[in-house]
Amino acid sequence: MKPREIVPDVQYVGAQDFDRRLFDALIPLPDGTSYNSYLVRGRDKTALIDTVEPVMLPVLQAYLKDVARIDYIVSNHTEQDHSGSIPWVLERYPGIELLSSEPAKPMLVDHLGLAASRIRTVADGERLDLGGKTLRFITTPWVHWPETMSTYLEEDKVLFSCDWFGSHMAQTDLFVDGLDCILAEAKRYYAEIMMPFRKIVQKNLDKIKDLEIRLIAPSHGPIHRDPQSIIQAYRDWTDDKPHNSVVIPWVSMHGSTALLVERLVNSLSERGIAVFPFNMSTADIGKLAMSLVDAATLVVAAPTVHVGPHPMVLDAVVLANALRPKVRFASIIGSYGWAGKMVDVIKGAMPNLKVELLPPVICKGLPKPSDLEAIDKLADAVAEKHKGLGLL
Ligand code: FEO
Repeated sequence: MKPREIVPDVQYVGAQDFDRRLFDALIPLPDGTSYNSYLVRGRDKTALIDTVEPVMLPVLQAYLKDVARIDYIVSNHTEQDHSGSIPWVLERYPGIELLSSEPAKPMLVDHLGLAASRIRTVADGERLDLGGKTLRFITTPWVHWPETMSTYLEEDKVLFSCDWFGSHMAQTDLFVDGLDCILAEAKRYYAEIMMPFRKIVQKNLDKIKDLEIRLIAPSHGPIHRDPQSIIQAYRDWTDDKPHNSVVIPWVSMHGSTALLVERLVNSLSERGIAVFPFNMSTADIGKLAMSLVDAATLVVAAPTVHVGPHPMVLDAVVLANALRPKVRFASIIGSYGWAGKMVDVIKGAMPNLKVELLPPVICKGLPKPSDLEAIDKLADAVAEKHKGLGLL
């Protein structure tokens, strides 16, 4: 396999993983993913930016078969899908220098078992002259781990961003083909791994705002030829103001909770509010995460199982709590057979969500007319709150 040029003397040597369907044993990958690695050839020196997931090492090895010398390997991010093949690269090129941010050094030691002496740390803003190709290192923490940095190729104005601006997508075309498609994929990726660090991502966006960027070359998914579109999308996703939407993760065992959800979906829709219901017995949690990026309100809907909420709904609450979306309001609806502590358990599972709790609606058995009226009142309360934020 021959390396493919993305700009003169910068080649793609990464791997497209069409078959992978799960990341971190958690995140669905409907369109596979890629692990992008780039070779930057200066007049005097050559640098490799990131590597590939170890299972795809044979692809990197094939690309580098005829590359006799590499002087530097830049580790933008120590998670193993990008760093996992570094040990092979160090062995293949004994004189190579491994460059990383300061906080990345102990992480490379811990995760890959590397000797600390093999790693040279670079400072924020430090430059590396390869001869007509100058790399500038920019620390961009928490996209997605605390040690992450981006590498900017000054002459060609390429930002190697690693996880951020990336997307889980495998395709043979190295460049973005279709803006709507890539923004959806990139939003899914942002939601799954970067949303908890929204405020820091805003700071990173500020940090690169004066950088002249022609290409953003992430380490997952295709390369952006229109950097401003994805940067603006990140601005929207990280913005403090939510959208006029409600997310409802729900499950129903015998139909009672489903009736409450159906009534709430209709009632909110009639009031001009966008609703995203997710039946957790079949839902794609990536889509749930995407909807949480913008939502102003979260309504958790569960039947009772052994006095607590149905575990599938509790999973969704735990996920939302971990992702820390910008939701401002929350409520709980559901049903029980004879007794339950569902509301307390759900409330206790979302301490990270800084939300105002609207009155829950819990019914015994099938919803009565009064329960459905209470659902309409909840929809009224949500609409009032959204109006208060200027969303309606
Ligand atoms: Fe693609 Fe955080 O690794």
